[in-house]
Amino acid sequence: MDWVLSEFRQLNVLVNNAGIQRQVNFLKGSRDLGEADEEVDTNLIAPIHLSAQLLPHLRRKKEAAIVNISSGLAYTPLAVVPVYCATKAAVHSWSLSLRHQLRNTSVRVFEVAPPMVATELAGRRNRAEDGEYVMSAEAVAVGVVEALERNQHEVALGAAANLLAQREALFSAINQ
Ligand SMILES: NC(=O)c1ccc[n+]([C@@H]2O[C@H](COP(=O)([O-])OP(=O)(O)OC[C@H]3O[C@@H](n4cnc5c(N)ncnc54)[C@H](OP(=O)(O)O)[C@@H]3O)[C@@H](O)[C@H]2O)c1
Repeated sequence: MDWVLSEFRQLNVLVNNAGIQRQVNFLKGSRDLGEADEEVDTNLIAPIHLSAQLLPHLRRKKEAAIVNISSGLAYTPLAVVPVYCATKAAVHSWSLSLRHQLRNTSVRVFEVAPPMVATELAGRRNRAEDGEYVMSAEAVAVGVVEALERNQHEVALGAAANLLAQREALFSAINQ
């Protein structure tokens, strides 16, 4: 953090993007727990710590932003990657609370939930041309910039938008 702030004094946007995804099979007992712990550390603990440590600096800026990259899987889990989905659901919840806590400061809190993206997450390369549900990394980056420009604090991209809409419809239906 000292190095970042000495090299980039104008820094006013933190993008919590680093993430890993692992298959965790609970039928195998505790075999995969090491990898599960790494997922929690990378996907959830690191964004929380980075944000907390950078906030005093960000709050001194006239305008600043924290951008949390969550996932469509925050809304509907994929059972073979259960801990990953839980970390993303937690990132979603934490983003809501952080946004509320910082509402009277210069720091805006964004959450961008991509669908499946053509990257090497999970050790396989998804390809944008493989199907309508896979988005290119470039399109996700455009989505992040558009969210910042529009001040749209919660954005679900591509197929993730359908998962969010379905969850919201269900929530409305059962809470009438
Ligand atoms: N790909 C998808 O289908 C998808 C869908 C929804 C959301 N997302 C989210 O999008 C974000 C980016 O993932 P991606 O798809 O671009 O995956 P990726 O191609 O595997 O890239 C992951 C990035 O995270 C960094 N990283 C991983 N562990 C780290 C650690 N311990 N410390 C520092 N950096 C670390 C990697 O850095 P190195 O290259 O240096 O290892 C790499 O830059 C993640 O939060 C992911 O959950 C991805």
